[in-house]
Amino acid sequence: MKTVGVIGAGQMGAGIAQVAAQAGYAVLLSDVDQARAEAGKAGIAKQFARAVEKEKVTAADAEAALGRITPIGDLAGMAPCDLVIEAATEREAIKRQIFETVGKALGGEAILASNTSSIPITRLAQAAPDPARFMGVHFFNPVPVMGLIELIRGLATSDATVAAVEAFGQSLGKRIVHANDAPGFIVNRVLMPMLNEACFALGEGVATIPDIDAACQLGLNHPMGPFTLADFIGLDTCLEITRVLFEGTGDPKFRPAPLLVKYVEAGWYGRKTKRGFYDYSGAEPVPTR
Ligand code: CAA
Repeated sequence: MKTVGVIGAGQMGAGIAQVAAQAGYAVLLSDVDQARAEAGKAGIAKQFARAVEKEKVTAADAEAALGRITPIGDLAGMAPCDLVIEAATEREAIKRQIFETVGKALGGEAILASNTSSIPITRLAQAAPDPARFMGVHFFNPVPVMGLIELIRGLATSDATVAAVEAFGQSLGKRIVHANDAPGFIVNRVLMPMLNEACFALGEGVATIPDIDAACQLGLNHPMGPFTLADFIGLDTCLEITRVLFEGTGDPKFRPAPLLVKYVEAGWYGRKTKRGFYDYSGAEPVPTR
């Protein structure tokens, strides 16, 4: 595997492109147009500049890795890729459209993978040119820091596809875990009920936002408390995945907390909108309740 395509130059796509380039792959990074793809590469350049400043990577290595990333505005440009990872918006219709378009450009051996955090892989595979060469490859945010990739095979995914994507993931220095195509896979199946439960606890007046966060951060040795983490992931994303767990299992234990629903309805999505369980408009985050 030499050339890797990444579709979507947002936070996840840019992170995947960065680690793939650092591992020596030629990376084609696309978004809805050339300008957005270029903006994604500019963001990666900033990450590299910070890494050089902190002496985590040499200036020469950073420059070489950045040089391996080519922004493209048209999915037809993905033709040379051995592996294409889709990290576009978490909307099934958008992903299906992408698979159909890029599928026409890819060669007969190329593998197509999705970074979806919650959409069933077997269902998505129906829009891929060959479901045997399609699977889930779930990275975590921030991609350069997080050491895990979840691999999810659909019903039709071939052993050769799994082996090739596993080898790719290992070459990035990540630990690979295999999950079945079940709602939330592994991490979100375990994480989202915790974040959702924190919302129930807050809504029921068990404790304040800072105290629930401090309790979990210091009492469980988590890097972030549940509200800080939910704001970091995006409350809209947390609610979406919780709904997938609820609807996909039919189990009422996964029902979304009313307070989480309210925050999303208010458009308070977390860091990306500068307001979630904390207000991020000032120098320090301020709890909103
Ligand atoms: N890109 C690259 N590097 C980054 C980064 C980014 N976006 N953000 C932080 N880092 C690096 C920093 O450079 C720093 O590196 P050094 O220690 O080598 O200098 C290191 O990470 C720690 O960063 P900071 O000191 O700035 O801040 P911190 O210690 O508070 O760590 C954090 C920040 C790594 C994000 C940490 O708080 C953390 O691990 N939080 C939990 C993140 C998490 O759970 N992510 C998974 C979310 S779930 C998901 O992604 C899947 C899904 O489907 C929803």
